[in-house]
Amino acid sequence: MENQPQQRTKVWFITGASKGFGLSLVRQLLQQGHHVAATSRNLKELRRAVNNDSTEFLPLSVDLTTESSVSEAIQTTIGRFGRIDVVVNNAGDGQLGSLEELSDEEARANFEVNVFGSLNVIRHVMPHLRRQQSGHILNISSIAGFLGTFPGFGIYCATKFAMQGFSESLSVEAKAFGINVTVVSPGYFRTEFLTPGSLSVPQQPVAAYEEVRQSQAAHQNQINGNQPGDPDKLAATLIQLTNEPNPPLHLFLGQDAYDLAHQKIGAVQHDLEGWKTMSVSTGFAS
Ligand SMILES: NC(=O)c1ccc[n+]([C@@H]2O[C@H](COP(=O)([O-])OP(=O)(O)OC[C@H]3O[C@@H](n4cnc5c(N)ncnc54)[C@H](OP(=O)(O)O)[C@@H]3O)[C@@H](O)[C@H]2O)c1
Repeated sequence: MENQPQQRTKVWFITGASKGFGLSLVRQLLQQGHHVAATSRNLKELRRAVNNDSTEFLPLSVDLTTESSVSEAIQTTIGRFGRIDVVVNNAGDGQLGSLEELSDEEARANFEVNVFGSLNVIRHVMPHLRRQQSGHILNISSIAGFLGTFPGFGIYCATKFAMQGFSESLSVEAKAFGINVTVVSPGYFRTEFLTPGSLSVPQQPVAAYEEVRQSQAAHQNQINGNQPGDPDKLAATLIQLTNEPNPPLHLFLGQDAYDLAHQKIGAVQHDLEGWKTMSVSTGFAS
């Protein structure tokens, strides 16, 4: 123990903290003496779940899809703790259904939370991080934001691919201000994500999509409750990550995510090289 450097106390801002990854993070951080601002749609449920009355914990009622609500939460956090060191865009829900089945409204609702909710946080936290010339933003995407071949998860994948895209851009924009960005891609972890409170099913299912219904049933009945990933280990890993001097832009979590990422990279490499002649044939003749 003597040789281990003492990690300094940090201020964390975490979205979607009443259950799952968010709750695991809040509990471990408070136990380690960090300051934690955590958001939820349901303040009462968040307070009940965390069960901590200390001044280190700031529970916040936030609607992530309303910019003024997000802005107010960040101002309140700065008012209480004076700074923000780590931001976790964790809140997210899933919309199951084939692209044909899902209405414009259903598709957009998933983007509102996963994409535009996260962008609201980034837009309002960046001025503070720039002023500090430091900070670490962790955007919780998914392996489904790197590999899209899951029947019935096209819209969810699209939201999580969007997070990968803006995280990569943000990493280069924020670098000049000493701010790190990591886009996190977990595989299957045992949280409440596959339960009706987080995963919606199509309002107008189309019977012909048998593979989508099979995928839906498998996720709801077999995979839910049997996911290999431990959310407490994921939370501990993210905390450890923020102590790294050079954190990665991409972090895959879980053996399944690691294997599927390899599969995707191999498939892209295969197409890239197999179709190279066509790819490079489109420039002006010099
Ligand atoms: N578990 C997995 O296997 C897995 C894998 C890859 C990625 N992820 C991602 O990890 C993140 C956390 O999920 P989890 O696994 O911890 O699931 P969870 O147990 O269902 O928790 C989801 C959290 O997101 C918030 N949330 C859900 N729907 C929301 C909505 N419509 N508006 C605002 N907030 C909402 C909830 O916050 P409040 O109820 O407190 O407001 C909740 O605390 C999500 O972004 C998810 O996409 C999960």
